[in-house]
Formats: sequence, structure tokens, C-alpha cells
Amino acid sequence: MKIIGLSGSPRVRGNSDIILDALLSGAKSKGSEVRKYYLNRLKVRGCQACYACKRTGECKQKDDMRPLYAQLLSAEIWVFATPVYWWGPSAQLKLVLDRMFPFCHPPNLDQVRGKKAVLITASEDRPALATPHLCGMIRESMDYLGIKILDELLIRAYQKGEVKNNRSALARATRLGEKIASGK
Ligand SMILES: Cc1cc2nc3c(=O)[nH]c(=O)nc-3n(C[C@H](O)[C@H](O)[C@H](O)COP(=O)(O)O)c2cc1C
Repeated sequence: MKIIGLSGSPRVRGNSDIILDALLSGAKSKGSEVRKYYLNRLKVRGCQACYACKRTGECKQKDDMRPLYAQLLSAEIWVFATPVYWWGPSAQLKLVLDRMFPFCHPPNLDQVRGKKAVLITASEDRPALATPHLCGMIRESMDYLGIKILDELLIRAYQKGEVKNNRSALARATRLGEKIASGK
């Protein structure tokens, strides 16, 4: 089972990143091949809405999305980890989501349909208040691509790294990683 983690926070070892690491280490312990990207470190430009990908299946832009497309296509599970910014995802994650437009068109659509996804969020406010729009957006987007969301870990935390004191959240993330690695 190949799992790709997209860490959308600019904070390395921030809350969403720590939860992502716990999930990925659980998955790795059960034999999954895991790969993680810090989206903030990638040079990814916004979608230019040229619709070239609709005609050719490929994005014309030559930036760090190129290798990421290949990694996304080869992974069976995508894990999105993001802080909640203004009730939505981080800009870093939104850029990458917009650039997934080539996946909406055949033949790419056939390659992504059937994959699975997990959403991890960190927010200062209670998840019930902070995440509905973000969850809705990811759910609709994944549904559009034919990708099932396996679970959502919606964590409440504010200061950088404070979630490392939240043992139950960490344990839940590790267990989820173990579970998805076993294909359950
Ligand atoms: C630009 C910005 C916008 C934010 N917007 C929200 C918000 O809408 N709701 C919320 O609960 N927290 C908001 N926060 C707080 C972060 O979600 C919170 O600090 C979270 O733990 C960050 O996750 P990270 O450590 O993974 O980066 C915001 C923080 C920043 C910097």
C-alpha cells in the first residue's frame, strides 16, 4: 500500500504535520510505503485555467507539480493535512488542489477513481465550528474524482506543536495509519 501525505501547513512540526506523522508512522509500521511532501517547500503556481489539461491530459506548467502528479497517481491513499485558515484549507494546499484539475479529465480520471483519502485538520476553534466548509470542500472534491474519504481527523490545537500533548489524538492517528495500511 503506497500512501502519500501532503503537509499543507507552513509550520514544520505544526499540529497538522504532527498528526500526519503519527498516521504515516502507523502505516509504515504495518508495511506501507509512505511519502510526505511539505507543500510550503514546493514551487507550485496557481492553475492558469488554460484548459490545456482537458485537451491533452497534462498541465502545461513546468513546476514542482510535475513530480507530484506522478506520486499522486502511484499512491493508493492520499492524506491531506492542513491547518484551518479562514474556515478553509491553507493556501499551500488549495494551490495543489486547484492543480489537480488534470485529474478531472479522462484518461486521468480513470487512474484516480477508486483511490482513498484521509483529511487531517488543525484549528484553534472547535472543529464543529471551524471545519464544516473545509470538510465540505474536500468531500465534494474527492467525490467528484471518485475518491472515498476513509476518515477525518479534526484536531483542536492552536500553538505550534501543542498537539503533541494530545495523546488520544496521536494514538487515534497512529491507529488509523495502521488500519489503512492493512487495507481495512
Ligand atoms: C491565517 C490564519 C488563519 C486562521 N484561521 C483560523 C480559522 O478560521 N479557524 C480556526 O479555528 N483557527 C484558525 N487559525 C488558527 C490555526 O488553524 C491553528 O493555529 C492551527 O493549530 C494551525 O495548524 P498547524 O500548526 O498545523 O499550522 C488561523 C491561523 C492563521 C495563521
